[in-house]
Amino acid sequence: MDERIVSGEALEQEEFEELSLRPQRLQQYIGQHQVKDNLTVFIEAARMREEALDHVLLYGPPGLGKTTLATIIANELGVQIRTTSGPAIERPGDLAAVLTALEPGDVLFIDEIHRLNRAVEEVLYPAMEDFFLDIVIGKGPSARSVKLDLPPFTLVGATTRAGLLSAPLRDRFGVLSRLEYYTEADLNEIVQRTAQVLDVEMAGTSSVEVARRSRGTPRVANRILRRVRDFAQVRGDGIITDALAKEALDLLQVDPLGLDHIDHKLLKNLIHTFRGGPVGLDTIAATVGEEPDTIEDVYEPYLMQIGFLQRTPRGRVVTPLVYEHFKLEVPKQ
Ligand code: ADE
Repeated sequence: MDERIVSGEALEQEEFEELSLRPQRLQQYIGQHQVKDNLTVFIEAARMREEALDHVLLYGPPGLGKTTLATIIANELGVQIRTTSGPAIERPGDLAAVLTALEPGDVLFIDEIHRLNRAVEEVLYPAMEDFFLDIVIGKGPSARSVKLDLPPFTLVGATTRAGLLSAPLRDRFGVLSRLEYYTEADLNEIVQRTAQVLDVEMAGTSSVEVARRSRGTPRVANRILRRVRDFAQVRGDGIITDALAKEALDLLQVDPLGLDHIDHKLLKNLIHTFRGGPVGLDTIAATVGEEPDTIEDVYEPYLMQIGFLQRTPRGRVVTPLVYEHFKLEVPKQ
């Protein structure tokens, strides 16, 4: 699964390559207009008051630019960013170490914040609310409580699963921003920007073709662009033409809607084995050999976004669009 070209998750090595492609300022950031407009105001206001920005929660499917936005927020505020993740902070002491190293106004970015454990969360509450650290160090009779003032800071949390966040944690964010899949037009602009950064020429409407097959996800678009560029270099003269883009995408087995062989397997399974559903999540997971969580977080969001799949109380159901996509006859009731 990790090697799917259409995966929103970063593949190995990719985070490093992405760094050079990422926009550094809000002005350069394409799409997510509502989120961007709101953040622009909140950042400006915080700067005017010379205060730390309210804590920000960014949520939505992987690959839409949560980490990029966190970096941009810090850049716009003119402060440093410290980056960590839910699973990396194992004990309260780990969090204390991170928090006490912050300078006034800094951004602390916690990726996958839904994976913080309970004990760590308890320490985070007063830190977020009152910039105050209260932890117990040591064990047994020698254990003692340590209280420390912290500099004002902005926590930027990112998660693909906002529903898994505990209510007390969610309530402590002043700004909740949901990232949406990008429109084809915005994605097209991103592809053109990336092509410029990579110094590769895209002729005709090849950038539209790449955008259309990228599942509304910049990470996928940029990944596909790099692979298509390889084809252009080896099979062509380095220029990405319409024909070359189409040929490369077909060879990469990404269909015109951005679906790959695993999506095809999942959907065809639903149609042929389960007559289009409803089917329970666990059954789907077993038939395609994936974890239910993976199906729910990685495969389904996009299929639902394009109207191919519906979640009903009795299970998952495919829509007539799927039959049309595969040129199959839509069954009568
Ligand atoms: N590269 C990846 N995501 C981007 C975005 N939202 N805007 C500009 N460039 C990007």
